Amino acid sequence: MKIRTAKVGDAMKIHELVEYYADNREMLHRSLNAIYENIQEFVVVEDEGDIVGCGALHITWGDLAEIKALAVSEDYKGQGLGRKIVATLQNNAVDLGVYKVFALSFKPDFFKKLGYEVISKETLPHKIWSECINCHLFPDCGETPLLITLKEEK
Ligand SMILES: CC(C)(COP(=O)(O)OP(=O)(O)OC[C@H]1O[C@@H](n2cnc3c(N)ncnc32)[C@H](O)[C@@H]1OP(=O)(O)O)[C@@H](O)C(=O)NCCC(=O)NCCS
Repeated sequence: MKIRTAKVGDAMKIHELVEYYADNREMLHRSLNAIYENIQEFVVVEDEGDIVGCGALHITWGDLAEIKALAVSEDYKGQGLGRKIVATLQNNAVDLGVYKVFALSFKPDFFKKLGYEVISKETLPHKIWSECINCHLFPDCGETPLLITLKEEK
């Protein structure tokens, strides 16, 4: 099993994984088009050619990035892959010079385990609302905003 930067050829499998959980109302739907357009933001976990985990880091502003589309395939849950994907995305943030990372999550306890703290959504830049207002769950999506501040040294 290895974590690596996503390739265009992974987009369909990422989409399948995200849609599986979105259909279960555990995360938001994401179009295949959106995955292709943002493929450079994704990391994936690959096991014998299969994509069994994914996550993306989206730069919001100069000092802030968001973890998106985090998912680990059912059969692979509970093996530390979610934690590894988040750690990889956080390292990518630091490499880019961004030290604040947030998530909007239906699983706040998972992110709390990883050191994230619940924040008020109003403290996030207005920019993120542009995506929210186009979401069919707006305004009561039930996602919890959480934030971590990373150290400059990795
Ligand atoms: C949430 C998810 C990414 C976690 O992935 P995972 O690989 O199973 O998580 P890990 O094995 O890395 O777990 C890391 C820690 O978080 C804990 N944890 C995992 N899922 C959790 C949850 N839903 N709630 C609370 N804690 C959780 C684990 O017990 C572990 O704690 P430990 O180190 O003390 O043992 C995975 O369950 C998933 O894909 N869920 C469906 C999609 C989803 O909810 N995405 C989240 C964004 S909304």
